[in-house]
Amino acid sequence: MISLKNPKQIAKMRDAGKILREVEDEVRLAIRPGVSTLELDTLAEKLIRRNHAIPSSLNYEGYPGSICASINDEVVHGIPSEKRILQEGDLISVDCTLLLDGWQADSAFTAGVGQISEKAAKLIQVTEECFWFGVRQCVIGNRLGDVGAAIDAHARINGFSVIRDFTGHGIGKAMHEDPAVFNFGDPGRGLRLRRGMTLAVEPMIAMGDWHLTIDEDGWCARTVDHSWCAHYEHTIAITEDGLPEILTLPGFTWEAV
Ligand code: MF3
Ligand code: CO
Ligand code: CO
Repeated sequence: MISLKNPKQIAKMRDAGKILREVEDEVRLAIRPGVSTLELDTLAEKLIRRNHAIPSSLNYEGYPGSICASINDEVVHGIPSEKRILQEGDLISVDCTLLLDGWQADSAFTAGVGQISEKAAKLIQVTEECFWFGVRQCVIGNRLGDVGAAIDAHARINGFSVIRDFTGHGIGKAMHEDPAVFNFGDPGRGLRLRRGMTLAVEPMIAMGDWHLTIDEDGWCARTVDHSWCAHYEHTIAITEDGLPEILTLPGFTWEAV
């Protein structure tokens, strides 16, 4: 069931998104060689709680962190650990979800640790561009297939592949709501987008093949071919004026694009 949000509810999600942006920007600043992923997790949890919010991932289906911290060939759900020390040249994807006053915000980014290779930098850039190509399709009357097809096409043109086992999702009072937002699809097919929909759009892109395996911890998903991955996610709302608002990017306006 898809729950449409009224402007008051979207305002609450905007508040949650603003805090999440501040948390993730702080975590981004802490990324450097020698830092453990547990340190990033501890920082995120502290900032979330200081803002009177709750880390949604912590204890979600037993997940033991406030962020997911996934390195190199790890796509998503990397469990923070003091043993995982960031090394120069690594790619780290940080995915964080928080709950403020009953409303969720979900966002992820990939950053380089110190100096990274040209190809790794390109992967980050293309993944972010995939998000923007997708979100530009998130206008009233378009369909979810338009969103997924735009994301997939941009990844392919650049020689990368879209992860197919995980998707974006509706979001609101729950972290995961209907519909699933696939990062591939057929233009003109799928659910029609309506005012009041709130979605997490989150391309996950691999340099090589998209097939995944799950680690023995039951969480961490990595590519079978060990190709490196990037992830970029924002929570968006399809608003009155018909344009998507990026709730986890406060102050963003389309005029600036
Ligand atoms: N933030 C993730 C998403 O984008 C979900 C987190 S899974 C958890 O959907 F287990 F870490 F909570
Ligand atoms: Co997320
Ligand atoms: Co999400």
